[in-house]
Amino acid sequence: MKQILIIDDDDYIRDSLNIFFKEKGFATREVSNCQAGLDLLKEENFDLIIVDLVMPGMGGLEFLRKSAGLNLDTPAIVVTAFGTVQTAVEAMKFGAFDYITKPFVLDELMIIVERAIGVSMLQKENFMLKKQLKSKYKFNGLIGDSPGMQRVYEMIEKIADIDSTVIITGESGTGKEQVAKTIHYNSSRLEQPFVPINCAAIPKDLMESELFGHEKGAFTGALNTRLGRFELASNGTLFLDEIGELDLSLQVKLLRVIQEKEFERVGGSKTIKVDVRILAATNKDLEQSISEGKFREDLFYRLNVIPLHIPPLRERKDDIPLLIDHFVGKFAKKRKRDPLRFTSGAMECLLNYGWPGNVRELENLIERLAILVSGNSVAVSDLPEKFQGLRVKEEPAGYDVLARPAVRISEEVDSCIPDEGINLVGTVEGLERKLIINALSRTNGVKSKAAKLLGLNRTTLIEKMKKMNIETPSAGA
Ligand SMILES: Nc1ncnc2c1ncn2[C@@H]1O[C@H](COP(=O)(O)OP(=O)(O)OP(=O)(O)O)[C@@H](O)[C@H]1O
Ligand SMILES: [Mg+2]
Repeated sequence: MKQILIIDDDDYIRDSLNIFFKEKGFATREVSNCQAGLDLLKEENFDLIIVDLVMPGMGGLEFLRKSAGLNLDTPAIVVTAFGTVQTAVEAMKFGAFDYITKPFVLDELMIIVERAIGVSMLQKENFMLKKQLKSKYKFNGLIGDSPGMQRVYEMIEKIADIDSTVIITGESGTGKEQVAKTIHYNSSRLEQPFVPINCAAIPKDLMESELFGHEKGAFTGALNTRLGRFELASNGTLFLDEIGELDLSLQVKLLRVIQEKEFERVGGSKTIKVDVRILAATNKDLEQSISEGKFREDLFYRLNVIPLHIPPLRERKDDIPLLIDHFVGKFAKKRKRDPLRFTSGAMECLLNYGWPGNVRELENLIERLAILVSGNSVAVSDLPEKFQGLRVKEEPAGYDVLARPAVRISEEVDSCIPDEGINLVGTVEGLERKLIINALSRTNGVKSKAAKLLGLNRTTLIEKMKKMNIETPSAGA
């Protein structure tokens, strides 16, 4: 129901507007002065404001000016006495949608009200569509609405078009390379090359030539002159992935290129000048590497002009359903099949999982399911085993271990016994196994924490894991 705010010091006008709009199916709030109107605007949502121009205290014009500061985009219609049309025109300059002169016929006002609400809805729709379109292309297909991702988008917008070096940090699979590409494609270098190089994947002795190129005959096997990534990225962006793995001797050379913007090819003496923007990524703690003598401090400070951190998926669970939807669509298209749908139980398992491999792990899982699941519906039993025990509701904070009733989980267990009976021991063991896997997964494999969640001590948990042949999901104490 659309809601109208009526501001008028004249009781008679307020009452008649109130009755009229209620009869027409609107909700209304009415106040007798502008200050009270402003206060209400801060608390409730309105679709339209009707405000008298001349009132004791704050007048309609000042009200319009102040309400514009609230950025609400609520259309306002001003009511003005006959002969003060000039002020009404002034009011429209302040953002009023239209005006009506007193005395007015209610049906005439109704026409203006409908027009104002219609236009305002169109404007909002248009704004939303533009915003969606903009963000869809702007962020290069990066999915996620969580506050963590919003901060990443804000940073990308701020830093895309300046040439400063950026270090993108985040766990494996959080989207560091995709963010680097997005920065490039939002910069004025977008039509120039984006050249990635993975410092961990190239053997140490080939790395220098990979980066800076080599002259013919520079070393055995150098049959031709070859351009390195720096030259290939000329006027564009060079993405140094896993920078923490770069050899110390090359770190010195890299520092020089960043500072002097020039270098020589391996085996060459000609100095080559380049204009390249450098983006680097790492899933290592570089400050730790510095203290271990594996990373040069001067290079770190040179590179780390702008740090951009991508939070792990477990810290932005709101993004999981969006990402699932995105990948389901992607693989349905690729495999030419109907999109997968998840039962609420399966979705709960996916939400409760810790995702140590982050977005890449999620993407791989959906791809696997799109190949393996025969129908369209994914149930808990279709998920890999480590997910299957995760259907346990969140534990309330401060939950006392000793006071935990064993029946808390019984709601989750189907307690029906079929006519042919059940294997109680096997069923209970199965449940125990699922709960242990769940606890380990929730605590990223940290056994002491998992044991605490289960109300066991750590050694009992380890014994049970051995007996049941359960492996730790990721390295943990
Ligand atoms: N926010 C996101 N929206 C959509 N896809 C994403 C997002 N983040 C990551 N991806 C996808 O997840 C996969 C892994 O991302 P990417 O390679 O950028 O991660 P990474 O942090 O560089 O990983 P690694 O540390 O292992 O190199 C890619 O297929 C990428 O397209
Ligand atoms: Mg990467």
